[in-house]
Amino acid sequence: MLNGLLTIGDLNEQNLNDIFALSARLKRQRGTVEYKPLQGKIIAMIFAKSSTRTRVSFETGIYELGGHPMYLEQGKMQVGRGETMADTARVMARYVHGIVIRTYDHQDVVDLAKYSNMPVINALTDRFHPCQVLADLFTMQEFSGSLKGLKLAYVGDGCCNMANSLMLAAKLSGMELVISSPEEFKPDQEIFDRQFGTGKVSWEKDPMKAVANADYIYTDVWVSMGCEAETEKRLKLLSPYQVNSQLVAAASPNVRILHCLPAHRGEEITDEVMDSPQSIVFDQAENRLHVQKAIMAMIFDKELKI
Ligand code: CP
Ligand code: NVA
Repeated sequence: MLNGLLTIGDLNEQNLNDIFALSARLKRQRGTVEYKPLQGKIIAMIFAKSSTRTRVSFETGIYELGGHPMYLEQGKMQVGRGETMADTARVMARYVHGIVIRTYDHQDVVDLAKYSNMPVINALTDRFHPCQVLADLFTMQEFSGSLKGLKLAYVGDGCCNMANSLMLAAKLSGMELVISSPEEFKPDQEIFDRQFGTGKVSWEKDPMKAVANADYIYTDVWVSMGCEAETEKRLKLLSPYQVNSQLVAAASPNVRILHCLPAHRGEEITDEVMDSPQSIVFDQAENRLHVQKAIMAMIFDKELKI
């Protein structure tokens, strides 16, 4: 049903509905129903960047589905010393059954999938984070019942992997997404303009205007992994985009707060908002596990019925 997952752009509406239906079932049945579609399968997990949620949820999910996770630090592999990603892919395909990868250059993930001819799941690149936004959409669907017509305001760095993936996810699911960022961090023009799905994406410089009537406010760190050299500039330009009580008060009274985490409390989000009853960030983090299990089942279970 799925061959892998490199970006949300690989999916159609049916795929999305299937992922959500299966995620809900696996969440409900966790710990009570035996389901081992990865029995006998080894899934390599190549990580070039830090991770808490992604690594732990994938290792847990692979184990729960009966497979064996093999964690590999990209910097300790020969690809870190000049072997090409294409040759790495050709070799890995002789040993394992699938690859989960978190790295910098999105092209490396594309090459890995092309030359391994094996299922590859993108666990974050500089450009996209599809597993995270699928968990985000699933969480919003759980809380709101349906995604169609919901208004999501994303406030902060408008051109990072999260903003890019959220644009595609909003378009595919029929949501209204407003990205609020300074001019210097405006959304990627190609993704912003892409004809895909039925949702609407817009940009609004003023965060107070962006959150008006929003059902959800979403933020991400101001300094993504790999952007550390720009820390000073980013903190300065993005400081008016902090998700704090004043901003939350400008949204719908029932607004809920999302963050992919890790949060840098006191920068993009205050403690008060993170720890408020409106914050559903830990439900969102939990859903990484259920959604990624659904993605892997849809790749590896050839008899799967949803
Ligand atoms: N949200 C997310 O991907 O978290 P980690 O960086 O901890 O994996
Ligand atoms: N934009 C962040 C997301 C972390 C999950 C980063 O790339 O560091």
